[in-house]
Amino acid sequence: MSAAFHFDPFAAEFFEDPFPAFQVMRRDHPVYRREIPNHRVWPHYWMLSRAADVDAALKDWRRFSSAQGTLIDTDITLIPPNMFNMDPPRHDELRTILARVLTPRRVADLEPEIARAARAILASHLPTGQLDATRDYAQLIPTLTMCSLLDLPVSDRELFLRWNLETMAGADFTSPEALRAYGEMDAYWKGIVAERRKHKGSDLISQILHHDRAGLELADEEIAGFCSLLHDASQNTTMNMIANAVIALGRNPDQRRKLTDDPTLWPAAIEELMRFVSPVQGLARATTCDVTLHGVTIPAGDQVLILYGSANHDETVFENPERLDFDRPRVKTHWGFGQGIHTCLGAAVARLEIRVALQVLLDAVPDYTVVESGIIRNQLVPTRGLAATPITFAPITFA
Ligand code: HEM
Repeated sequence: MSAAFHFDPFAAEFFEDPFPAFQVMRRDHPVYRREIPNHRVWPHYWMLSRAADVDAALKDWRRFSSAQGTLIDTDITLIPPNMFNMDPPRHDELRTILARVLTPRRVADLEPEIARAARAILASHLPTGQLDATRDYAQLIPTLTMCSLLDLPVSDRELFLRWNLETMAGADFTSPEALRAYGEMDAYWKGIVAERRKHKGSDLISQILHHDRAGLELADEEIAGFCSLLHDASQNTTMNMIANAVIALGRNPDQRRKLTDDPTLWPAAIEELMRFVSPVQGLARATTCDVTLHGVTIPAGDQVLILYGSANHDETVFENPERLDFDRPRVKTHWGFGQGIHTCLGAAVARLEIRVALQVLLDAVPDYTVVESGIIRNQLVPTRGLAATPITFAPITFA
């Protein structure tokens, strides 16, 4: 065991490649404690890195609660309430409502629109031979998808992106900018809820408002919380997944060619890319009682960072985990969308957006180079964030 081991998920040195540190943690420090020098709420937290422990903790909401939030050292009372940060029974009631309206049919119907939008966004960049896969492409696709699902004006999408970056893309989720953005979002969503109460549409918000579960009343705050949740949960995750996948495919041209040669590989490739990239690297829980694991006792009330990204690279589950391999067996087992009662409700939407975005890109540009020196990473947890992902390719002009 190395006494000098150090891992800080908020330190930039780990943003590009946290996986060697995860490997050491899984082997030598499966219950790793970290102090927070200038803490706000908790003076320290713990990290779980082995796949078996990650899986067990995510399935054990009674001992690993979400009720104090899922962001490290963050005062949850400053953030609008939503089911991410709830335990049963309210969590399950709200989840049932959303699950009923986010149907497979509604998701499938989005495909032509996402594909059209992706092609249109890409078209203006093809003649230049360069593209910032984050700013010019990946950031735009989830905002458009949300506008479609919630029937919001596309002209507001810059606003949605700004709010998302201000609340989610830094190390301080309750910074003055984040709190201002939460305030603006809250006012925006409450306005939308008031409007949809008067004019019912076929969008998700109208359906949530007019849900048919007798006896389950929803306050306007809770409906505004749904909007905020959908927005928060879908934007940062999906855009960073698409951009990180562009990097992964750029660095692994053999796997990229497999996809262009055989499109039937796409479903398996999306799962392997989800495992390999793990856009959500870590979210927190708080212990509700003392929990002893591998001889270490985590006291009741402490925060625990669950490292989904480490579970996805655990060599006891995945052979050669650092290799991107679209022929990998058992690829369906991964923690990219979480596990347990909070498992991602938007996984089908996310899979669709990721596939369409990558497929449209590879159809137009089967060969490209990632400009490694231009990559800008801004975060590891909760999301493996990218601020810039430049790629170059042979310019494409249309006759
Ligand atoms: C690549 C994109 C995405 C990734 C990697 C992702 C990942 C996750 C993960 C790991 C969780 C579990 C949170 C926890 O354990 O506390 C989660 C929850 C959730 N996701 Fe996603 N997500 C993605 C896209 C989306 C989209 C597009 C939507 C909506 C359309 C969505 C809606 C949700 C919701 C509502 C929850 C909360 C479920 C609950 O608390 O019961 N996600 N997501």
